[in-house]
Amino acid sequence: MNTVQRIAVMTSGGDAPGMNSTIRAVVRAAEIRDRAIYGFEDGFTGLLAARFQPLRSQDVAGLTARAGSILGCAREPRMLEAHFQQRACDILSEHQFDCLIVIGGSGSQQAACVLSQRGMPVIGIPSTIDNDLPYTDTSLGVDTAINTAVACVDMIKETMTSHRRIAVVQVMGRGSGYLAEQVALATGAEAVIVPERPTENLEALRKLAFERMVNHHERHMLIIVAEGATAPTSADITAHLSQLGYAVRQEVLGHLQRGGNPTASDRILGARLGVAAVEAAIKGTHGVYLTVRGGDIGFEPYEHVTCNQRKVSDDVLDLIAQLG
Ligand code: F6P
Repeated sequence: MNTVQRIAVMTSGGDAPGMNSTIRAVVRAAEIRDRAIYGFEDGFTGLLAARFQPLRSQDVAGLTARAGSILGCAREPRMLEAHFQQRACDILSEHQFDCLIVIGGSGSQQAACVLSQRGMPVIGIPSTIDNDLPYTDTSLGVDTAINTAVACVDMIKETMTSHRRIAVVQVMGRGSGYLAEQVALATGAEAVIVPERPTENLEALRKLAFERMVNHHERHMLIIVAEGATAPTSADITAHLSQLGYAVRQEVLGHLQRGGNPTASDRILGARLGVAAVEAAIKGTHGVYLTVRGGDIGFEPYEHVTCNQRKVSDDVLDLIAQLG
């Protein structure tokens, strides 16, 4: 008989649309294969407190369309400390879990990697709107966050146009400019500022604004800024262009980018990743996180996981420069 009988799952770090679809897939894939499945509440915080509950098929009914995570999410800095890493391992062993599935972003997968290095069977599912995990084209939540931000920016653009204003819109992404870049191209922004390329200085933006708003008498201008950009920040840009006499509005999209109901693409990705994780767990695969490359699901050893892997593409930035 296969030794993997008890599987645990958690959602960790910042929530991402598609997590619920993944939980549903994990639970149903485990149940159909006669495995017991348990959910830790609030990520590693729940693990450190041994807070978990059995999950059954009926507990995850109707979840595909819902953003967030029914298990709860948390950032758990204690997982950086050796003492708590060992406590997490002890709790998993004590409760005889044969595998832990960690749905989360780079910080969560690094914590999972540490547990794996300490001998725990762990499998990761990439989930972060920042899309900063290495070796995977995408992660759960990225598609939804882009679509949600695009819908908001489209609306902002309409009102800016009525008033001949410049919009400086800040999007999430932590140290990654991926979200900003994609949103900028999709909304026809005139400029995008990302941490990976701190080259768009204020003087370049001044020239762009003059060319567009004064020389060409355009009715709006849109600048998308990644929250991790520091040279300049969205506040710097807003202040600079306002001082020059333009009517400027700064908008920070913030957490609404994480809260939108998952797109079909994220629901489908969640279903595929959830089932793949359970299949891998039952086969005895662990010490890996799942990846998506060219549409195919694969595995990457946990040793390769790093924070803030950057995926900004020069091609996309060049398109924005040409079309904006
Ligand atoms: O990592 C996802 C993310 O949404 C980042 O884009 C953002 O910087 C951060 O989480 C916000 O974290 P919190 O929800 O803990 O404020």
